[in-house]
This record gives sequence, C-alpha cells and structure tokens, in this order.
Amino acid sequence: MALLDKHKILETNATLLLVFSFLVVTIGGIVQITPLFYLENTIEEVDGMRPYSPLELTGRNIYIREGCYVCHSQMIRPMRDEVERYGHYSLAAESMYDHPFQWGSKRTGPDLARVGGRYSDDWHIVHLRDPQSVVPESIMPKYGFLERTMIEPDYIEDLLRANRFVGVPYTDEMIANAAADFRAQADADSDFDDLLERYPGAQVRNFDSQPGISEADALVAYLQMLGTLVDFSTFTPDASR
Ligand code: HEC
Repeated sequence: MALLDKHKILETNATLLLVFSFLVVTIGGIVQITPLFYLENTIEEVDGMRPYSPLELTGRNIYIREGCYVCHSQMIRPMRDEVERYGHYSLAAESMYDHPFQWGSKRTGPDLARVGGRYSDDWHIVHLRDPQSVVPESIMPKYGFLERTMIEPDYIEDLLRANRFVGVPYTDEMIANAAADFRAQADADSDFDDLLERYPGAQVRNFDSQPGISEADALVAYLQMLGTLVDFSTFTPDASR
C-alpha cells in the first residue's frame, strides 16, 4: 500500500513522471544497446560476402533511385512460410555492405533478397520493360527507359570511395580499376580474370543483350547477384563465435 502511495506522487506530478520515465527508458536502452558495441559476433562473418562490384553497386543505386524498395523488401524472416517461399532466411552479414540497407518496410511485390538466379536475364529485361506482359495481374510500373539509358562509369571511383568512407572495405586497387571492372562485367568477351579475383562470383555477361552498357545492365547485374554470394549448401550458423 505504502509503495502505491509513493507511486501516486509520481503519477500526479507530470514533471516528475517525465523525469522518471526518461530514466527508465535510458537504463533500458543502455542495457540493450551497449553490449552490441562489445560483442564480436553482432554480425557473424560468413564466407562469400564481398563488397559489390562496380556494376552491381551502380545497379543498386538505380534500384534506390527508382524506389524499388517502396514495394520490395530484401529481408527474409526466419519463419517457415517465408523460408519456403523465398529460401534461407537473411543473415545480418548479407546486408553488411549495404549503405543504406534495403530491408524495406512493405511488400507490395515479393521479397527480392534471393531473386538472383531465379529468372533469366531476358525475363528481367522483359519484366522491367512491361511487367504485365509476363505477370498479367502485376501492378509494377514499367521501367523500359532503363534499357534505353546508356551509362558511363564517370563517377564510379567516387561511388566506391564514398562506400569505403562508410566502412565498405574497397581497396585502392578496386578503386583504381573501378571503371575497367564496370565495363568488363557487362561484356563476356572482355578480359575479366582480374574482376573475378577482386569480386569472386561476379556474373559476367551482356545482361540486356544490346550493345553498350545501359542502366538495365547494371540493375539486372545487381538483381542476379542478390542472395547468391553466400553458399547455403555449406553454411552452418556458428554459435561459438
Ligand atoms: C508499385 C510497386 C512496385 C514497384 C515500385 C516495383 N515493383 Fe517489382 N513487383 C511489384 C509486384 C506487385 C510484383 C509481383 C508481380 C510481378 O512479378 O510483376 C513485382 C515483381 C518483381 C520482381 C519479380 C520477383 C519474383 O520473385 O517473382 C522483380 C525482380 C521486381 N519486381 C523488381 C523490381 C525492381 C528492380 C523495381 C525498381 C526498378 C521494382 N520491382 C519496382 C511491385 C513493384
């Protein structure tokens, strides 16, 4: 009873209530957040994750520019219906090089975290040009202008540098070769050995099957990479780290 009486003092004094509420939230916040700065395993390192190649990173920027994230998430939750539909649930490490992350908050369309390799390049190009031609009931807008918009890697070094500034481990070598790697990835006849050494598993080809490098090339290179970097046939969660 006495305790309740004391509580009444708090409940009838707005300023005091505010001060104590703030105190409680602060303590709760510290308890939750501080360990994250000291735990080594906040982001479990997994094999296969690498910074995005220059062409993929450009595609990612187009994805952000066009607001694809407004309708698409990139985060498969560890629930059975999601895992059965989309594949292995997303790992924190899979978005460790995403600045900003693309988890999204709404699924008007399907999750895209593992869309890489699910469709052919042609399917993507036709789908971007006219979604309703392949999925009649689709409400996705048309993005045909992407394949008509040619791009040059004029600012690619700056893009990599900006990502390095926020923590993505691009090396000087990667930055120096960014424009060459950008071109090499869109051309299966190029000399792409160095590109693959820098970005293992990068897919090299002419994604939109027309001459030149278009925004659609970059976007499809990005989409076809999504969810393919980590090999889930050999991945086992490591609880000891
Ligand atoms: C207005 C909402 C909306 C926007 C914006 C949007 N989409 Fe979609 N998207 C959808 C819907 C709905 C579907 C499911 C029907 C279909 O396949 O067209 C879809 C399907 C897809 C699929 C096939 C996924 C699968 O697993 O079948 C891809 C890939 C895709 N969208 C990529 C994109 C990209 C890239 C952008 C940005 C350039 C984009 N979408 C913008 C609504 C949207």
